Formats: sequence, C-alpha cells, structure tokens
Amino acid sequence: MSTDLLRFGVAMESELLERFDALLARRGYSTRSEALRDLVRAALADDAPVGGATVAATLTLVYDHHVRELTERLNAMQHDLGAFVVSTLHVHMTHEHCLEVIVLRGPADVLKTASDRLLATKGVLQGKLVVAPMPSAPAVTHSHVPASTHRYLRKRQSK
Ligand code: NI
Repeated sequence: MSTDLLRFGVAMESELLERFDALLARRGYSTRSEALRDLVRAALADDAPVGGATVAATLTLVYDHHVRELTERLNAMQHDLGAFVVSTLHVHMTHEHCLEVIVLRGPADVLKTASDRLLATKGVLQGKLVVAPMPSAPAVTHSHVPASTHRYLRKRQSK
C-alpha cells in the first residue's frame, strides 16, 4: 500500500466546519487532516464484512421530516425489510425533527446494507446502527402467555 499523502478538497457548510473544529480542539487534534484520517479509519472499521449470521440490532435515525417525501421513503425501506423490523419507536423531537429507533433482528449483512441506505438518505441528519450478536445459547422457543390469559384459562378450567 502506498503511503504517499494525496490532497483533496472538501466542501462543507461553515456551521458544520465550525463544529468540527471545536470537536478537534476538544479531542486534541492539531490538524483537520489528522482528524479526518481517523474518522475515515473508524468508518472503514465499521464497514468490515459482517456475514449473514443472525443478530439483533438497533438503528437510530434523526431526520428532518420536512424534506420532501423523506418520511415515505424511510417507511418504504422499512417495509422492504419485512419481519426483520421487530419494532419502531418514533419521537417528534421538534417541529421539524424526528427521532426514530428501529429494533431489528435478522442476517447481519442484510441489516447492515439496509441501515447504510437509510442513513445515507437525504434529510437523515444523524444516526447509528448498533449490532448485538446473538448469544450462542439455544434460542428461546416458548411463548409468553399474558398473565390475564392464564387467569382466564384457570377460570374456564375450574368451571
Ligand atoms: Ni415525527
């Protein structure tokens, strides 16, 4: 691998750059280049192959629902995942911002690809996928019958 340093231009909103510089100062970086290299390395590590093993995961998204058709697009992408979406929590943060936490369970590579697409959608401001490998213990196969049902069954049986 070549160790030659290549220069490239980066365009970014001034407000975002100011916040980036403040972050670098807090973390003790002396140059933007050094910080960017670390961010790229971290992104590459996050992107390492994950395989198709079943995992549980949460995907957190913060987005601006005023961006045209964004809510519909995010919703359609979640429908494409079918039963891999276990549950979704939606919080209206401000007038324009929504926080969504999507609980997923399925093949790691499928969830990762879908999450990358959701996170890269225009209007999604922030987010992160947290993957939890399934413990090696056998899967739980019994069903949880609600307590009220137990009472109902007992009553029926005692008649
Ligand atoms: Ni909302």
